[in-house]
Amino acid sequence: MVRAALARPAVARTLRAMFRSLLPPDAVAVVECAGTEDLPVHPAEERWVAKAGPKRRRQFAQGRACARQALQRLGAADEAAVIARNEDRSPAWPTGFVGSISHTDAWCAAAVARRERVLALGIDVESREPLDEALARRICTPPEWEALAGLGDRPAGEWAKLVFSAKESFYKAYFPETKTGLGFQQAKVLIDPGAGRLVVELLADDKPSLAGRRRAEGRFGFGDRHVFTAVVVETQG
Ligand SMILES: CC(C)(COP(=O)(O)OP(=O)(O)OC[C@H]1O[C@@H](n2cnc3c(N)ncnc32)[C@H](O)[C@@H]1OP(=O)(O)O)[C@@H](O)C(=O)NCCC(=O)NCCS
Repeated sequence: MVRAALARPAVARTLRAMFRSLLPPDAVAVVECAGTEDLPVHPAEERWVAKAGPKRRRQFAQGRACARQALQRLGAADEAAVIARNEDRSPAWPTGFVGSISHTDAWCAAAVARRERVLALGIDVESREPLDEALARRICTPPEWEALAGLGDRPAGEWAKLVFSAKESFYKAYFPETKTGLGFQQAKVLIDPGAGRLVVELLADDKPSLAGRRRAEGRFGFGDRHVFTAVVVETQG
């Protein structure tokens, strides 16, 4: 009875599937929904958005609903499970699980995996609007920025937006594991445009590694209006 009373509405079944195509389906459960979906905040998660405006409340509720559903697919939660928020604002995943959430006005997604398979995981969606050069130079290292012009196919500012997103994805994977902040100049992104693959490498020698690893592999995709990135560090690597 209590469980029924706490049950949360699931996200709609007509989900788009960009992140699902970017993450290994045998290791990572992914749930995506439209950013317009109107879901209530779980009563037990209300404390983290009690003072937030409607947009932030909607995004938080969508992210948690997607995350709950992804955890359910892995057998790690029921439909009423609470996903707490850590002091550092990262989601508090159940013991033995890692995951990541991202949202925009148009998109929301959560990806979750068992830690025995995946050590760290990050996803990010951004609008495709190109970064202007001044901002791009703050996000990209000088050699990174120089290299983007040679990638072809799209303006350098659009590739720079991809670099931005990849670094955010990396940060979402890196921070929960290391509890260490990272600046945009402290990592670099190598892009293979044809394969839709990328690698993020830690540049700062004084920053801790991710269980001995200083690089993470990822994938990316461009939608009509968005760029999507995902990075995964497998536990056995
Ligand atoms: C935390 C951060 C990456 C979030 O990215 P964003 O594009 O602003 O927003 P998104 O919608 O994609 O992601 C928000 C989600 O990130 C997650 N998140 C927040 N802080 C986090 C952290 N410290 N670690 C992992 N995930 C975190 C949360 O799940 C949050 O959603 P929720 O509050 O609804 O649960 C970003 O705000 C930030 O601080 N970036 C600067 C650090 C950085 O990226 N450095 C680059 C180093 S190379």
